[in-house]
Amino acid sequence: MKKLPPKLNTDRKFPTNMTTAHALCLKAKNGEKGNQKGKRYAVPAFNITHFQGINAAFKAFELLGSSGLLAVSNSALKHFGEGDAIYGLEVASEYITKKAARSSIKIATHLDHGDYISEAGRRVVQASVQHLTSVMADNSTDKVAKAAMPLQDNADLTREVVDMAHPLGLSVEGELGVLAGEEDEDTKSEFSTYTNPDELDQFLQHTGVLMLAPTIGTMHGPNKGKPGSKVKLNIKLAHELLAVADKINPEITFVAHGASTLYPEVVKYAVEQLDKMNDPSNSKQKWLDFVGTDWDQIEGLIEAGFCKINTDTENRQTFLSALLGAITETSSKIDIRWYDNQCTDALVKSYIQKLIMAGNYGVWHEPKIDVKKYQFDLSKSLSDLI
Ligand code: G3H
Ligand code: 13P
Ligand code: ZN
Repeated sequence: MKKLPPKLNTDRKFPTNMTTAHALCLKAKNGEKGNQKGKRYAVPAFNITHFQGINAAFKAFELLGSSGLLAVSNSALKHFGEGDAIYGLEVASEYITKKAARSSIKIATHLDHGDYISEAGRRVVQASVQHLTSVMADNSTDKVAKAAMPLQDNADLTREVVDMAHPLGLSVEGELGVLAGEEDEDTKSEFSTYTNPDELDQFLQHTGVLMLAPTIGTMHGPNKGKPGSKVKLNIKLAHELLAVADKINPEITFVAHGASTLYPEVVKYAVEQLDKMNDPSNSKQKWLDFVGTDWDQIEGLIEAGFCKINTDTENRQTFLSALLGAITETSSKIDIRWYDNQCTDALVKSYIQKLIMAGNYGVWHEPKIDVKKYQFDLSKSLSDLI
């Protein structure tokens, strides 16, 4: 008989205020805030690609007393390491660890879309186990052959990562099914397949993962549907999958990739700036054609146990929109920290908005701002909003 997968070692001590993504998501699945147990909520996993993103996320988490989840993709790691992903991992993780030590909340660091298929992917996952608190082993797609991996191969490779990471106390996220859209700068999938409940059962039993990204219709990137149309997720399937997972282990939490809703106010603000500057690069229509997933759909997923919601695209848009605004306001400030602050504050504003929408506030301490009154607005300064 095949050996059972190793259980997650929950005795592992991480640096001050750091824990696994699974610990934060399980609290969310159980609706735990402070000593209270209430409604299920979600932990947005913000993809960070630069130090401003990290600083902004900490600021938002601390203003709200939220659980913090910072995700880094392979390409983000290469960006931090000027082409060297492993060096980038060391630099980013040390920076985050130092910030966590003086923080008022708890955070997790997570490798996003790591894979155990390619040599390069395996090296990054192995290094991440040394530096982060959680890893994703996305073996659902063969990025070279651009095809879905056979179920058994996906399960075997993911199990290898669980065998390595769980004894060391790191949570592992697997993926089952194929998600359409752009996953990273090298990976783009034109097709998507829904996760099959029987396959989910086999996959979870075989791998022992406590976090799983099933595919139920979400999509990466800024064009999640036809302009003017509404994205429809398969919420019914999400509940069927939850029933399968809960039967195996109620501590399993689901992950929604491609969960950016995209804020209409961010698009409106960007278009206004482009109009002011006569749209020098003909970008206005691209902004107008962006389509995100409506929040009511994501809420449906949260009810179905999707307690980690991955958001990258909407944060990128917020940053870029704010940069356009800063440049139209003035293009001659030699102290470039002013532009930097405009964009970082914009990120804080959108992170706060998403944390409130997801119900992830008051987890580690009471919010320092009035959550009910908060209104995301790129044209107002952060200090006027909080
Ligand atoms: O799902 C993937 C993220 O959006 C990562 O994108 O590889 O361009 O950082 P990136
Ligand atoms: P978005 O493109 O919707 O932001 O999704 C990001 C993501 O899934 C990262 O893993
Ligand atoms: Zn993703």
